[in-house]
Amino acid sequence: MRQPYRSFQILSLSIVLAVLAGCASHPQNQAGQVSRKPFGTTKNGIAVDLFTLRNKNGAEAKISNYGGLVVSLKVPDRTGKLGDVVLGYDTLDGYLKETPYFGALIGRYGNRIAKGKFTLDGNQYTLATNNYPNALHGGVKGFDKVVWTPKIIAGADGPGLQLEYVSKDGEEGYPGTLSVTAVYTLTSDNALKLAYTAITDKDTVVNLTHHSYFNLAGKGDILGHVVMIPASRYTPVDSTLIPTGELADVTGTPFDFRTATAIGARIKQDNEQLKFGGGYDHNWVLDKAMDQYGLAARVYEPTTGRVMEVLSTEPGLQFYSGNFLDSKITGKGGWVYKFRNGFCMEPQHYPDSPNQPNFPSVVLKPGQIYRNTIVYRFATR
Ligand code: GLA
Repeated sequence: MRQPYRSFQILSLSIVLAVLAGCASHPQNQAGQVSRKPFGTTKNGIAVDLFTLRNKNGAEAKISNYGGLVVSLKVPDRTGKLGDVVLGYDTLDGYLKETPYFGALIGRYGNRIAKGKFTLDGNQYTLATNNYPNALHGGVKGFDKVVWTPKIIAGADGPGLQLEYVSKDGEEGYPGTLSVTAVYTLTSDNALKLAYTAITDKDTVVNLTHHSYFNLAGKGDILGHVVMIPASRYTPVDSTLIPTGELADVTGTPFDFRTATAIGARIKQDNEQLKFGGGYDHNWVLDKAMDQYGLAARVYEPTTGRVMEVLSTEPGLQFYSGNFLDSKITGKGGWVYKFRNGFCMEPQHYPDSPNQPNFPSVVLKPGQIYRNTIVYRFATR
C-alpha cells in the first residue's frame, strides 16, 4: 500500500511543480506581468523570443533574448499618453541585416580600444578592428549579436527578465571565460533597470553598457532635448575617437552640460572635439564618487514633457548624439532614421581604458564579481 501512495504523492508534487513552472513563464503579480512570444530565427537557425514586460502603471518594455535588445519602450507623456521612446526595428530581420547597436547589450568591452590591441599581465591581445582603426563594442560578434538564455522573473519592484551568456575564453580575442548575467526590470516607478554581474576564470577586461537610441518625442530630431550631465570633466579624443588621456575641464566649452542645455544649442560650434565626433560622441567623467550609484544624466523633452533620468554605478557616460544616422535605415512603423533622430546615454568606463594607465581599471580577476547597474527612469514635467 505504501508504494502507490508514495507514487501518488510524487505525481501530485510533479503536477504542482508543473503548474508553478507554467505560472513562472507568465508571472502576474501586483508589480506587473511578463509575456513571451517568438521573435524569429537567427542566421544560425536559433529561435529567439520577444518578452513583453508591463508594470502596474501600464508602462511596457519589449525585450529580446537576441542581443538583450530593447525593441520598444512605452512610457507616458505629460497627458498620460504612452509612446515608444526608443529606435529600432519591428522585426528580428531588421536587426540581423544592419544595426548601429539599436537597444543592445554591449560587451565584452563597450566603446573603443585603440588599434584593437591591449596588454594584460604581459600578454598582448589582438581584437578585430571593426571600427577602423579601432575595436568597437566587443567586436564583430559582440554581446549585441549573441543569443542569451532567458528567464522570466517577478522582481519585488516590477516584472523582470534575466539573461545569461557565457563568453568563451578567446571569444572575439578576449582572454578568460566570462559568465555574464543581465537582469532587466521594469520598475513600478517607470524605470527600466539593467543590473549586470559577471565573473571570469582568467584575468580579463570588462566594460558592459547599454545602447538604446532614445527619442523622447517619438519623432523628429533630438536637438530640442534638454540635457544635464553632472560632470566637470570629459575625455577629449583624437580624430579616431580614442581618448588622448587627458581629463579636460568642461568649463566654457560645448561639453559643459552641468546646467541643462538643449543638445542643439552648441552642437554646430566651431570646435575640434565636435568635429572629431561629428557632434557629441564623447565620454563624460561623472562627478560622483567611483562605484557610487547616482545620477549620470537628465534629459527633458519640452513638447511631450517626458523626462529621462539616467542613473548608474559607472564612472563615465558616453553621450552620443546619433551623428551616424543618415536616413539609410527605415525603422519601426516606417520611420526613416535621419541625422540625429536618436541619442544614446551609455554609462560605462572610459573608452580605451585597457591602454590608459591613468583611467580607472577595467580588469576583472578570478574571484572578483563585476557589478554594474544602469537605470533609465521616466517621469514628466
Ligand atoms: C557608439 C559610439 C559611436 C557609434 C555608435 C554606433 O556609441 O561611440 O561612435 O559608433 O556607437 O554607431
